[in-house]
Amino acid sequence: MDGITDATMRAFQGAQKTFTHAVTEFIRVSNHPLPSRVFTRDVPELATNAITITGLLVQVQILGGDPDLMAISALNAIQVGATAIDINFGCPAPTVNRNDGGASILRCPQRVYEITKAVRDAVPSQIPVSVKVRLGWETIEPIHENAEMVQKAGASWLTIHARTKAQGYLPPVYWHPIGEVNRNASIPIIANGDIWTIDDFHLCQEQTACTHFMIGRPALANPQLPHQITQSLGLTSSGTLPQTDWPALFQKLLYYSEIFQGPVNSKSLNRIKQWLSLAQKFGDFPSCTPIKQIAEPDLFMQNLQEFCHSIEFAHSP
Ligand SMILES: Cc1cc2nc3c(=O)[nH]c(=O)nc-3n(C[C@H](O)[C@H](O)[C@H](O)COP(=O)(O)O)c2cc1C
Repeated sequence: MDGITDATMRAFQGAQKTFTHAVTEFIRVSNHPLPSRVFTRDVPELATNAITITGLLVQVQILGGDPDLMAISALNAIQVGATAIDINFGCPAPTVNRNDGGASILRCPQRVYEITKAVRDAVPSQIPVSVKVRLGWETIEPIHENAEMVQKAGASWLTIHARTKAQGYLPPVYWHPIGEVNRNASIPIIANGDIWTIDDFHLCQEQTACTHFMIGRPALANPQLPHQITQSLGLTSSGTLPQTDWPALFQKLLYYSEIFQGPVNSKSLNRIKQWLSLAQKFGDFPSCTPIKQIAEPDLFMQNLQEFCHSIEFAHSP
């Protein structure tokens, strides 16, 4: 996720031992092929076989509308260590769409085919090339033709965000069409969108019959959820999970932030503040606006820690 899943966050998520893959923030291909140095700069994991220092596989995501430029860029990423490429046809940002990228390509299934095929053909066959889409631009029906094009072009798997571009991030999500695609698909289909709770997960599982899922914002809003899902999928042993230890999680994020961004400063705190906003908006973390205004790292962390303990105390029986 752009602005969220940077190397720090990917390392942090890897340490949680829940996800099998992480996808980079989209890297945009505009008028020129992206040189290898862009990938080494944005994806430091490429130096270690595209695996985070915490053991999580990382896929490089590229976004653009020109098949040749996308293909050369993918090849450049592979030359410096990428082991899997993901193509973004889901981004709804107006600046991206105006410049012929992201979800705007969904309006023309033939272009979905051509871009995917060009990347697929350019990179060695053992390198997975996957695609991420929304259901459509304005309506959900185009998902069927676009999913066919993705498969015909030889993609390794397809992730579907259960909304149209027109919806932005507004509810509702439509998981049923993902199920329709999944029933007829010859490649794995990954269901995505608004899986906020374990009940949502079970409903999504029921409606899509998918066995693979992508979780974005909810992994931060509800840090227990990825653990609950891996338990539910039988990937980890079942049992009662301990309560979320928010201060420990924030401290861990800062630990990885120091590795990738140097000594903790107000910028590193912004990541925690962004996380707090997500946890407040979509999870059950209480509002802590005055703390978010603190810029000095030690004072911020101390106040946050005290605040977290006070909520724990208020919640304990
Ligand atoms: C701030 C933000 C940035 C995002 N950036 C990307 C991106 O770079 N690549 C991508 O494939 N999806 C991106 N997404 C979409 C998410 O991957 C995901 O499809 C969407 O948030 C719905 O899933 P969720 O409810 O699990 O978060 C982004 C979403 C948000 C909110």
